[in-house]
Amino acid sequence: MEGFTTIIEPFRVKSIEPLHLTTRAEREALLAKAGYNLFSLHSDDVIIDLLTDSGTGAMSAEQWAAVQRGDESYAGSPSWFRFEAAVKELFPFAHLIPTHQGRAAEKILFSVVGGKGKVIPNNTHFDTTRANVEHSGAEAVDLVIAEGKDPALRHPFKGNMDVAALTRLLEARRADVPLVMVTITNNSGGGQPVSLENLRAVRAVCDRFAVPLFLDGCRFAENAWFIREREEAHRGRPVKDIVKDISALADGMTMSAKKDGLANIGGWLAMNDGVLAQQCRELLILTEGFPTYGGLAGRDLDAIAQGLREVVDESYLRYRVRAVEYLAERLLAAGVPMVEPAGGHAVYLDAKRLLRHIPPLQYPGQALAVELYREGGIRGCEIGTAMFGKRPDGSEQPAAMELVRLAMPRRVYTQSHVDFVVEAVLHVFERRESLRGFRIVEQPAALRHFTARFAPL
Ligand code: F0G
Repeated sequence: MEGFTTIIEPFRVKSIEPLHLTTRAEREALLAKAGYNLFSLHSDDVIIDLLTDSGTGAMSAEQWAAVQRGDESYAGSPSWFRFEAAVKELFPFAHLIPTHQGRAAEKILFSVVGGKGKVIPNNTHFDTTRANVEHSGAEAVDLVIAEGKDPALRHPFKGNMDVAALTRLLEARRADVPLVMVTITNNSGGGQPVSLENLRAVRAVCDRFAVPLFLDGCRFAENAWFIREREEAHRGRPVKDIVKDISALADGMTMSAKKDGLANIGGWLAMNDGVLAQQCRELLILTEGFPTYGGLAGRDLDAIAQGLREVVDESYLRYRVRAVEYLAERLLAAGVPMVEPAGGHAVYLDAKRLLRHIPPLQYPGQALAVELYREGGIRGCEIGTAMFGKRPDGSEQPAAMELVRLAMPRRVYTQSHVDFVVEAVLHVFERRESLRGFRIVEQPAALRHFTARFAPL
């Protein structure tokens, strides 16, 4: 708003969910019972839940009205046509395939184009994307720019693809690359955006080698906002136009509507190639459903259609990105180390620098995440050696980074909630030297971070 420096939540609250304010003693007991694994907590016992921004957003009154409008016809429902129109308004790919969430789109896509001997380049694969690529037998290669790998280094587009490295890969292995993927924003690299200039350069390389370019578009609107704010040539342009420019550069996309679809469930796969689309639809029918609903109810399709109209609203995006930046700013002012600058959907605390006295194999990220819950009932997510440290042969190796992601659900928490989070992080930061690491006492063969049990050292 002109003349004001305070950026307010551009909405008011109609329906509330009470928070259960636990005591420190209760949280201590709950932690022990959960084996110090925050995934094992009951979410009712979490005060501020920053585990993920996926599917956790609040829907608008118009979205709830759209839910009522939802039509549950098996084939050719009006909800499907509204969904199709809303998606194509932003992403006019010839073929649109609805799925129940993002990874279902990935599973279908890589079942068709992946397989042994194939290689998929991406700026950074999100973990489900990597898992689906590898499950098909193919190799997932991350080619983010060097700046994107240094948490403390500031760069406006740390999600950019290393175009020279992509060129080298294609020179060496063009026949093995069915498509190039770019994740906007780059979640695994700190929620960092990709510039339009970089996307154009990637497109040019794809043209040179005649290889299709696919987007992982989960947080496309946040990425477009960063382009509007940070890329000189696009400063102040309408977000919708930037989104259309992005989609015009690609041949297809995977999407989780649980992020910038502003919905609680849903996703899609889209592409221009009709032969590929036909193969994908055949798999869709096996596992997701008929091509006009995918794995979704008609009401979900309608909620997404309305969400897509709301997510490109500039007052929403200004508030959204500012809320995350505000959290980062206040923590940085006190010297709390994190991935800089803040991402679009999350602040990633750097436990490696924050807890220098805890070695990687004693899980500093886990120690920090547990302490934030103990201190303020805040649930973040370790992204470090607890998540990535176990190798297929069972041995352990430190992860590249030890992060704790504080992901902000969309339109859920207010500024005072964020102030409370700041206070809790600062309390923990002040007594960081007293924190101790953990050991793992029980773990499954794969994806151990979801179910492992820890014991304090
Ligand atoms: N791609 C990206 C970049 C993601 O962040 C996610 C999910 C997916 C694909 C998969 O989508 O969950 O609908 O199947 N990210 C969530 C997170 C889980 O917490 O970051 P999905």
